[in-house]
Amino acid sequence: MELIDSFGRRINYLRLSVTDRCNLRCSYCMPAEGVEKLAHGDILSYEDLFRIARAAVAIGIEKIRITGGEPLVRKGIVPFLARIAAIEGLRHLVLTTNGLLLPEMAADLRSAGVQRLNISLDSLRADTFRAITRIGDLQRVLDGIAAADAAGFPPPKINMVVMRGINDGEVADFARLTIDRPCTVRFIEYMPATREDNWQSLTVPGREILDRISASHELEPVEKGAFAGPSRDFRIRGAAGTLGVITAVSGHFCGDCNRVRVTSTGMAKSCLFSDEGFDLRPFLETSDPIILQEALRRIVGVKPERHGMSAYKAEHQAFSMAKIGG
Ligand code: GTP
Ligand code: 5AD
Ligand code: SF4
Repeated sequence: MELIDSFGRRINYLRLSVTDRCNLRCSYCMPAEGVEKLAHGDILSYEDLFRIARAAVAIGIEKIRITGGEPLVRKGIVPFLARIAAIEGLRHLVLTTNGLLLPEMAADLRSAGVQRLNISLDSLRADTFRAITRIGDLQRVLDGIAAADAAGFPPPKINMVVMRGINDGEVADFARLTIDRPCTVRFIEYMPATREDNWQSLTVPGREILDRISASHELEPVEKGAFAGPSRDFRIRGAAGTLGVITAVSGHFCGDCNRVRVTSTGMAKSCLFSDEGFDLRPFLETSDPIILQEALRRIVGVKPERHGMSAYKAEHQAFSMAKIGG
């Protein structure tokens, strides 16, 4: 079954956030004090998240990405993932993590059926990493990446949010990581998420990132797969891995957007930047799966042609990636 929105886009990818909590405090994601914690009762139970996932697959979703906050901090995540992995018709179960808990959890995630990991890593320098994440220890993430490898995961996609004057001096170092290793590094344009008046000054356009890499390496475009997210991918000629830019601010990837989101409180969002979500909780009250499927179809039906991020103003309600799941 194919799920097509009103602009002819095929929607096959659900980003499902299982918690707003996180064991880091990345400056581009949340204020120093963290996000106001949602009460446990506001977070959907695993049973409800599972029902949403199953309904989504029933109407045409084939790839589910589990996100947070940090998904691995939620207790009971491994058996939940095993249940999701077993949904008939689901082709890809993947997860985005900051990597801190991978040393303990990578093997269990692999056995549960998670196929691939995207790991956030914004600096290869311990002091810069600490400054960005406020409380993080770089070595733990590096150990987490090694643990994922040892557990048999395919090489990860590493997400680096590039911020001018903070970590943009490391673009070349990250690009070079892909020469000898088969990993993928994605450079993400910083998007407005916390209350900053001058957020644009932090965003380094994808074009500039690619120009900087091209100054010393020849880049070849890599074709996008059917389930790919918004990254535009390249390979340094002869390199083992690939690199990509996610031009969330300067680019216009809405035209081939393939995804919808559901937050951990059950708000379905047809676009990362749509103002408010559509509350799925009333549709979870009945046990009839068709009602939930119809609610999800409605979300796809109202998916906008493109996002309204350019209208973002600091005085707007601060928008928390940790609550939405990126
Ligand atoms: P793949 O499924 O592996 O291609 O990953 P992905 O890039 O879709 O997911 P990931 O969780 O690794 O997200 C990487 C970055 O892309 C994050 O900063 C996300 O916020 C951003 N991103 C993902 N989807 C969208 C989108 O629909 N719109 C915008 N503006 N950004 C997105
Ligand atoms: N701009 C760009 N990317 C962001 N992420 C979180 N907040 C932002 C932001 N303001 C990224 C994280 C993670 C992914 C899910 O979203 O680095 O890799
Ligand atoms: Fe946590 Fe991810 Fe937000 Fe960093 S970006 S604070 S790792 S949810």
